[in-house]
Amino acid sequence: MRVLVIGSGGREHALAWHLAHCPSVRKVFACPGNPGMSDVADCLPPTGDYLALAERLNIGLTVVGPEVPLVAGIADQFRAGGRKIIGPSAEAARLEGSKVFSKQMMQQCGIPTARYAVAEDYESAARELARFTFPVVLKADGLAAGKGVVISPDRAHAENTLQHLFSGQLVGAAGQRVVIEEFLQGEEVSFIALCDGQYAEVLEPTQDHKAVCDGDTGPNTGGMGAYCDSRILTPEQTSQILDTVIYPILHQTGFTGFLYAGLMMTADGAKVLEFNVRLGDPEAQALLYRAKSDLAQTLLASTEGRLKEAPIKWKPDPVVCVVMSAHGYPGKVRTGDIITGLPDASAAGATVFHAGTTLEASRLRTAGGRVLGVTASGATLQSAIEKSYRAVERIHFDGAHYRKDIARKGLKRW
Ligand code: AMP
Ligand code: GLY
Repeated sequence: MRVLVIGSGGREHALAWHLAHCPSVRKVFACPGNPGMSDVADCLPPTGDYLALAERLNIGLTVVGPEVPLVAGIADQFRAGGRKIIGPSAEAARLEGSKVFSKQMMQQCGIPTARYAVAEDYESAARELARFTFPVVLKADGLAAGKGVVISPDRAHAENTLQHLFSGQLVGAAGQRVVIEEFLQGEEVSFIALCDGQYAEVLEPTQDHKAVCDGDTGPNTGGMGAYCDSRILTPEQTSQILDTVIYPILHQTGFTGFLYAGLMMTADGAKVLEFNVRLGDPEAQALLYRAKSDLAQTLLASTEGRLKEAPIKWKPDPVVCVVMSAHGYPGKVRTGDIITGLPDASAAGATVFHAGTTLEASRLRTAGGRVLGVTASGATLQSAIEKSYRAVERIHFDGAHYRKDIARKGLKRW
């Protein structure tokens, strides 16, 4: 089978890397891909018409990494054109495309989530604030590349944030409607299931690290590192989340593709912070590194409504992925810094997934906020952590930043 991966980040590199190792896959194409992906895939120039590309290359299965094409309806377009693709309909993708829609769907399906209000202008938002205690969570309704959620410690901060949201200064048109939400406390878990419209195959649990600095401090990012470890959830928690979060959505929407529930494990049980309609990044790097079976077969089965017949098999060892980011991230990012040390990192036993990199005159340089995802496994979580960081220390670029505490929270379960 010939497979096409759409996207250019670390998640897409991990997808292409895993798929290239699948016995059922003959060739992997990536559009547009990145320099790391060119080791395992043919990287193609960006296009506005992925369906035409898939037809021209006779692609048997297309996997979409990022949310934007899914929200724009790429999966409907492929299915109408008779091409197999992993992803939900545009209607179901609104779970990620609109926080208001997502909260309404959760309410309709009785899914546990934070109390909330919706406001369409500054005055009503400021009035609604009176019904919440601080800190309070403010969320832009539309897609905002991970920058649309602000936690406000007090009223003055909240009012200032609301002004920036409604004026378009913070995230443009995405902030024209705002969800005001109760602040939840607990540990976050990324719970991802592959769905075929009727059945859900749960992936191993992962934990992301959203804040830019150690100890979960500083502004939120797309994710500074993740680990995948069965011990994050008990089998009872997993089956409860499946029943109370994943299946209600599956039944309501006939969801196909990856359904990602961002959960807060509160004292009252798991509550949904958000839904995404794709794999997480950097969760995917840890997950795909750990998957043992031919994922292409499972994905293909999911497009044919026979996912139940093709379960994913996992290696037992936990996996840690540490993200190295560029100078300035998550603010204004500097690009063009020369990256060295990747062969040494590989020699240290890690796999380095590229994200924001570019090749210029045969030198690898930084080209985006999150630059690399340094990924390794170990017989214990501690050894996986040590192996990843030994590799990280061998990589250099000016302005490089990484968190020193990725997966540290997980050690208490060992
Ligand atoms: P979201 O995009 O909705 O997942 O929000 C991004 C991040 O903001 C989450 O991963 C959490 O770290 C934080 N967050 C979102 N909603 C809440 C909430 N209700 N309580 C506490 N933290 C939240
Ligand atoms: N790592 C969080 C996300 O992919 O949304």
